[in-house]
Amino acid sequence: MRSETSRLLALARPYRGLLLGALTCSFIASALDGMTIVLIVPLLKHLFGTTGALRAGATPLERWLSDTFAPLLANATPGEAVARMAVVIGLGLLLKNLADYASSQFNTGMQEGLVASLRRRLYDHLLRLDLAFFHRTRTGLLVTALVNETDQAKGIVTASMVSLIRNIFLLGTTLFILASISFRLTLLTLVVVPPLVLVLRTLTRRIRRHSRARADERGELAALATERLAGIRLVRTSGAAAQEEALFAGAVERYRKRVVRTARFSALTSPMSETVATILVMLVVYAGTNPGILGLSAPLAPEVIIVFLLATLRLTSPIKAISQFPANWAQGMASVEKVFSLLDEPVLEADDPGGRQATFARDLVYDRVSFEYDTGARVLHDVSFRVTPGRVVALVGPSGAGKSTLVDLLPRLREPTEGRILLDGVPLPELSRSSLRRLMGVVSQDTVLFHESIHANIAYGVPGATRADVERAAEAANAHEFVARMPQGYDTILGERGMRISGGQRQRIAIARALLRNAPILILDEATSALDTQSERLVQEAIERLMANRTVLVIAHRLATVRQADEILVLDEGRIIQRGSHTELLAAGGLYRRLYELQFRDDVEPAMPVASGDMRA
Ligand SMILES: Nc1ncnc2c1ncn2[C@@H]1O[C@H](COP(=O)(O)OP(=O)(O)O)[C@@H](O)[C@H]1O
Ligand SMILES: [Mg+2]
Repeated sequence: MRSETSRLLALARPYRGLLLGALTCSFIASALDGMTIVLIVPLLKHLFGTTGALRAGATPLERWLSDTFAPLLANATPGEAVARMAVVIGLGLLLKNLADYASSQFNTGMQEGLVASLRRRLYDHLLRLDLAFFHRTRTGLLVTALVNETDQAKGIVTASMVSLIRNIFLLGTTLFILASISFRLTLLTLVVVPPLVLVLRTLTRRIRRHSRARADERGELAALATERLAGIRLVRTSGAAAQEEALFAGAVERYRKRVVRTARFSALTSPMSETVATILVMLVVYAGTNPGILGLSAPLAPEVIIVFLLATLRLTSPIKAISQFPANWAQGMASVEKVFSLLDEPVLEADDPGGRQATFARDLVYDRVSFEYDTGARVLHDVSFRVTPGRVVALVGPSGAGKSTLVDLLPRLREPTEGRILLDGVPLPELSRSSLRRLMGVVSQDTVLFHESIHANIAYGVPGATRADVERAAEAANAHEFVARMPQGYDTILGERGMRISGGQRQRIAIARALLRNAPILILDEATSALDTQSERLVQEAIERLMANRTVLVIAHRLATVRQADEILVLDEGRIIQRGSHTELLAAGGLYRRLYELQFRDDVEPAMPVASGDMRA
């Protein structure tokens, strides 16, 4: 807990100016607040006709008040006295409220600044995490953390900590006033503190536990909704709406229960402090009027008791706030813990600052590369091959053979478990990631489109691209024609809530994207699967254009693409079992020949069309 607090404070450090402003203003406010109460003493004295006649044993405060305000009230009728003191007290209250307002402005500035910086930091961090992290974490949970849990951090630093400091100060000034009126009576009021602290401690522990569980349930709720709504087509076509309703209702119910349970404990803190305040008032009245109890020589003057009571009542608000602090703290900390646990996920994408610029002039080498997923499944065994610039290398093999995994290692989406990959003789980890990735364009089976214009989707990752560049890439990708037919052309919004396009069209957008990058190495991972023959021909043309003068690693279902490759690697269960040119491999027989024959049969019987990739949901 301590380390989380200090981490949070470290994040808040840039806002210490605002924090100081907030605290200063609230100190001023509470000091003025205390003053206005004390100012009632001279007024009451005047009204009771005891001005000037200080009783024996009067406190220094009484003396000071009498010296300062006696001239103001001299010879005033009761009405005039009330009016004059009302002006003074009114001025004090005005200043106090100004200071309060300024304090809350400083506070808001600080808390929102802190939340924004925590959010940015978390997002930056997430962008650099290992892919495996995203496989095991549901997106909805991450969104909740980014939006919701970060927001709770402000509750900790400002709503809780600033208010804690402020109320401790308020408590301090009030106790000071009380002590200057009667020290012993003040001591008496403090006897209630230890039992109060004890009970609050127990409560806090429970609140914290429930808050943690509540944050979990909230994340589950968001994750479930995100996932199911994104898959709305599947939910509909499966007729699973009722089942989904029940599932969601269950999550809602668990969250509801958790919130209610948390509130049960945190709502206890407030009535407890009310009770304590009432006990205090009774104690003060009783002890103030019975001097014997405290060993005082005489009962306190009536105006003193009145002011003492007023000040004692003023203790309730800080005591309440301070007693709520542990509950607020515990609730906020549960969220902050979540954010910090995400921030503690190890970053795999950290770039070595001394990273060299990647080049590809000589060769690309996979040197006895093995790979194992964190599930323990060994997917690649001892894979070695070499590619020189300008060559086309095809990877073929049955589904699940490890082809995608193999090419994922090149842009360092994953790291080999054993062996190394070298570019021009330099192991990939010694290169800067950005320079490495600039060398390659990737077209994969799942085309990702963002909720942005076609232009932005094609120019993704190439921020300086002009419209002419984008059009040229689209033309080469056989995409220009259909884009130009769209009502807003290249400004048409695609993606989640945008225009829906067919699988073949998506694929051509992705190819245009890769073309625009103009990268020397091209990775095509089943870029033509799931297309109808018409789209496939267009995509195939685009790919051939894309492959010209480039080094290509191509994974293809359709062996037509593969036939022209300079070298074909046949992968089976993570091992390269055959390699050579198309003619060599056909002659050799084995897996390649079997795959080819299966493929050939499909190709001459177009009566069974490949599933059209339209309208992916
Ligand atoms: N994220 C992952 N975590 C664990 N296992 C995976 C993951 N992705 C793929 N695999 C497994 O790795 C093997 C190879 O997958 P993949 O490289 O996608 O094959 P291919 O592209 O040749 O069809 C498969 O058995 C698959 O189940
Ligand atoms: Mg694959």
